[in-house]
Amino acid sequence: MLKLLAAGEFRELFAIRRCALAVCSILLSAFIGEVSKLAAQETGPSGRLIALPAPRQDGATSLERTLTERRSVRHFKDASLSLPEISQLLWAAQGVTERIEDAPSVWRGSEWKWMGGLRTAPSAGALYPLELYLVAGAVDELEPGVYRYVPLEHALEHVGDGDRRQTLADAALMQSSIVDAPAVFVITAVYERTAVKYGERAERYVHIEVGAAGENIWLQAEALELGSVFIGAFRDRDVQDVLGLPEDHQPLGIMPVGRKSEDWRERLWFRGGA
Ligand SMILES: Cc1cc2nc3c(=O)[nH]c(=O)nc-3n(C[C@H](O)[C@H](O)[C@H](O)COP(=O)(O)O)c2cc1C
Repeated sequence: MLKLLAAGEFRELFAIRRCALAVCSILLSAFIGEVSKLAAQETGPSGRLIALPAPRQDGATSLERTLTERRSVRHFKDASLSLPEISQLLWAAQGVTERIEDAPSVWRGSEWKWMGGLRTAPSAGALYPLELYLVAGAVDELEPGVYRYVPLEHALEHVGDGDRRQTLADAALMQSSIVDAPAVFVITAVYERTAVKYGERAERYVHIEVGAAGENIWLQAEALELGSVFIGAFRDRDVQDVLGLPEDHQPLGIMPVGRKSEDWRERLWFRGGA
């Protein structure tokens, strides 16, 4: 049959094939682009996203005042936090401050992730290894439970039911500030995301990033007239179990946040009250 085709017909056939391949590859890349953007929403097991109020990008307290006032606060009033306050704290830690529509997508083991934005905290190679969790105990408009922050959507994904503060405190050597606070932030990291590019250096980079994100939460809390403390003493495996974290989400810091108790200063650890 092929033998019967003239040279001109062959050229025509190849031209049609090339054209079909080009159309297919355009359609495929458009499809991958859409899939990547969907993956960027990062919906996990529950797939339920809770929209957060837009964060403020300005405030009345100066950075200098915030730096002067920041202290480790471990005692809180028995009062809830509002959803705008939670939104502001999450944004301070990992919020997207610059969207980049033509940013590349990277393969993250099980999904394509669109690297669509730069954030409040710096990240080595803009690889963003941190995953931020909220353990809500007393937050207005939010059921007690465990939530994961989705930066590109500025939303929360509900990943676990019930008030986990007591069991989280047990995993953190019974530190009462975790039970006392209406909300607790848990900073975790997926080392592999940074190791893909930086190898052994990744561990150092990830730890630097946790410090930056943690300080952002701390300063934002102070600017909102709230208090916080960075907790590094906990059993990693127990924290993962209590929160039901994926195996590769390594907990690196716990930050209770709440309204400072009247006597929080008198109860600072070096005054014998921690
Ligand atoms: C890496 C790190 C780990 C910490 N771990 C804990 C902790 O487990 N429990 C706690 O109550 N405070 C913890 N802190 C808070 C320190 O005790 C506190 O920063 C220090 O006493 C200085 O006080 P200041 O934060 O008020 O300036 C930690 C701080 C850092 C930076």
